Amino acid sequence: IQQKFVHQVIGHSATNNRLASKNKIGSGSAPVNIALSKYWGKRDATLNLPTNGSLSISLPGLGTKTQIERLESQNQQTDLVSLNGQRLDQDNAFAKRVSQFLNYFRETPQTFFKVDTENSVPTAAGLASSASGYAALVLALNDLFAWNLDNKSLSLLARLGSGSASRSLFNGFALWHQGQQADGLDSYAEAIDTTWPEFCVGLLEIDVKQKPVSSTQGMQNTVETCALYQAWPQQANQDMQTILQAIKDHDFATLGKTAEHNALTMHATMIATWPPIVYWQPESVEAMHKIWRLREQGVAVYFTMDAGPNLKLLFLETEKPAILQAFKQIKILEPFKS
Ligand code: ADP
Ligand code: DP6
Ligand code: CO
Repeated sequence: IQQKFVHQVIGHSATNNRLASKNKIGSGSAPVNIALSKYWGKRDATLNLPTNGSLSISLPGLGTKTQIERLESQNQQTDLVSLNGQRLDQDNAFAKRVSQFLNYFRETPQTFFKVDTENSVPTAAGLASSASGYAALVLALNDLFAWNLDNKSLSLLARLGSGSASRSLFNGFALWHQGQQADGLDSYAEAIDTTWPEFCVGLLEIDVKQKPVSSTQGMQNTVETCALYQAWPQQANQDMQTILQAIKDHDFATLGKTAEHNALTMHATMIATWPPIVYWQPESVEAMHKIWRLREQGVAVYFTMDAGPNLKLLFLETEKPAILQAFKQIKILEPFKS
């Protein structure tokens, strides 16, 4: 099924270029992205099709760089995957997921690849490494095979690796369409054509260790066991539309409050899952209270959180001094200023 999907996406470019592909090394890089209206749950796990649309902002300067080449030796019967300069064992879960994805792109069953990837964010810690990781890998494959795919096709392929990766082909805001079709060809992300120079994202790192439950596993458990989940798809799609309009209007208060409410609703479904998924740590909750106190004092700051303990603060440039004063360790990113 995935093979058919890939064939439909790369279509001619693949067959035409496969033999002629001359690039010895393919490389690609992509930013991480933080969803303001979240993806949590698949309607089809095989093709990575979501139960709802989602909307994100990419973070400049944070993400993944990946290189890929074919291994020519007949003696080499596996892929070789390195992360941050360290060769991974073949049975390592990270390497296995990469190899499984590469299965869709082998010219023959005997084609193996060497993949070297570097994350500038902690891996599997709720800072969207799967998003930048699979977007960068697809860009590297596009380069290696000289496919020359457009953004829509790249987004479709990245989605197959990790849903959130569909949004990491773009800078700024991006919207991933839920799609309706069973073939998955209408579920891809597009850039939202706006700039908002004052828009800031603050990264508040609470813990960067690997999370106990991956996003893939966590959302599957939620869909299967959480009774509250039935309310999620509709709210998520509504939040996405509200945020899209707020972006167009540069209405920061509406964007902030909708994004924060959306994140907390997602976490409510996680907590109501069995076994429970609680990504928060005490310091995460402490930071939430601090943000709510700041808001009471008139500082327009909101937060969002993904599948991990870290917070992402949303605010405009005017609030930067107040934020820096309240959170000494915060990393501030300005998505439209780099
Ligand atoms: P995160 O919050 O970091 O996205 P996930 O649980 O969604 O956490 O995904 C983490 C997984 O994404 C890793 O275990 C690995 O399988 C994959 N991943 C992360 N970085 C890369 C990369 N650079 N290249 C390929 N796959 C990656
Ligand atoms: C909470 O895209 O990492 O960050 O498709 O299974 O790889 P897979 O999951 P992933 O899930 C991201 C979940 C989230 C919300 C979001 O980014 O929209
Ligand atoms: Co992820």
